[in-house]
Amino acid sequence: MPYILALDQGTTSSRAIVFDEHGLPVASAQQEFPQHFPQPGWVEHDPLDLWQSQLATARQALERAGIEARQLAAIGITNQRETTVLWDRASGKPLANAIVWQDRRTAEHCKRLADAGHEAMVRERTGLLLDSYFSGPKLAWLLDNVPGARQKAEAGELAFGTVDSWLIWNLTGGRRHITDPSNAARTLMFNIHSQRWDDELLALLDIPASLLPEVVTSSGRHAETEADLLGSAVLIAGIAGDQQAALFGQACHQPGMAKNTYGTGCFMLLQTGQTALQSSHGLLTTLAASGDDKPRYALEGSVFIGGAVVQWLRDGLGLVPNSSAVEPLAASVPDSGGVFFVPAFTGLGAPYWDPHACGGLLGLSRGTTQAHIARAALEGIAYQSADLLEAMQADASEPLTELRADGGAAANNLLLQCQADLLGVPVVRPKVLETTALGAALLAGLAVGVYPDMAGLSAFWQMDRVFEPAISRDEAAERRRKWRSAVERVRNWQA
Ligand code: G3P
Repeated sequence: MPYILALDQGTTSSRAIVFDEHGLPVASAQQEFPQHFPQPGWVEHDPLDLWQSQLATARQALERAGIEARQLAAIGITNQRETTVLWDRASGKPLANAIVWQDRRTAEHCKRLADAGHEAMVRERTGLLLDSYFSGPKLAWLLDNVPGARQKAEAGELAFGTVDSWLIWNLTGGRRHITDPSNAARTLMFNIHSQRWDDELLALLDIPASLLPEVVTSSGRHAETEADLLGSAVLIAGIAGDQQAALFGQACHQPGMAKNTYGTGCFMLLQTGQTALQSSHGLLTTLAASGDDKPRYALEGSVFIGGAVVQWLRDGLGLVPNSSAVEPLAASVPDSGGVFFVPAFTGLGAPYWDPHACGGLLGLSRGTTQAHIARAALEGIAYQSADLLEAMQADASEPLTELRADGGAAANNLLLQCQADLLGVPVVRPKVLETTALGAALLAGLAVGVYPDMAGLSAFWQMDRVFEPAISRDEAAERRRKWRSAVERVRNWQA
């Protein structure tokens, strides 16, 4: 029986999952790695941690599945997007820590470019905004701040990559420097219409083209791993940014279908097929993962802090011993007691785009308990996602009839019920919650013929539970009005 190994390199952990020929998970492994916060607003990862934890989980997952690498038909790779790695082509060594997507150090650079009038051109070509979220300005920062980096880059000695490129470089012993359109689309350097790196954008950001990886399709026989890493060489046949992989794994293949992933952040994507829809409400246009060689587009709303707020309750505040203790604590009170928690720890993403917003806990009283704070934290995730959906509804021609939910925090029933209540549309949870990894596996399996054609893939998606809206629309509107007023209070705080 052929198996597919999905490597899911996320913001807080690396995971590997073995899937069988029916798209069902057989075994998995996960490893957290250190987060570095050298200054307020800065977030870094050691690229070697990303690579080593990913390799270790790949080996563990194979062991737990009781299979050898030669039984794998292919590997699919999916990854935290935008996080920027710069390394030396000759030694394979990173020049510095990776600058993580959440890092705001380039906010001023982006503002200068926007003030100079470049936003419209950038938006038209990339579907993105001039925001420090994306890779290009992070790469420019590394070139300008790591001693000797710019000279080496100009001499063609360095390579840039998002995490997919970095992993593939290492998996292939430095033989392949590639990425896929769904990752390239997050760099501010890639034209999503021509599907090419854009010289004018490179000039604007002062990035030498020699740094860039080759862009290959998300599903295809693109590379082979070094034999000694897993025991034998395996084809790398799927590559996609994690949110686009999740859209694929949620079988949102038809225009109008949408998913929300509750991971570190929350990412809502609406499939728009072969149309690149431009948002008038603060959303991004991005390339979706495509199962063939035709581009597919999506509208995306990105919330920077989603499930990470639960981690903060655990690690920052010491409110709970583990993440799963948050749901019972939050459920022990009927409501948040008037508390609103805006988790803008790293600024606000869509639809606000405010790098200077800060986190805020509002509406505290003498009666406020830990349980109210836990509940307000979960509700804060749902309120942010409701803001995204509202923006999406305003941009899309058809009303959304359901939202598919996935990611670690989607296991939380209270969160999904609250989400359905606020949205007024059913929220649907699939049986396989690891849709990001599943998407990468399906893209890889499609390329090597383990999985059927696109039409057959939707059969792999199975429903677990539907959360129906249970409060009146008036009540939802009132709660959201208060939420927006809480958001207004934390905006522009650090300007
Ligand atoms: O754009 C950032 C996103 O790809 C990170 O996803 O799952 O690591 O929170 P995650």
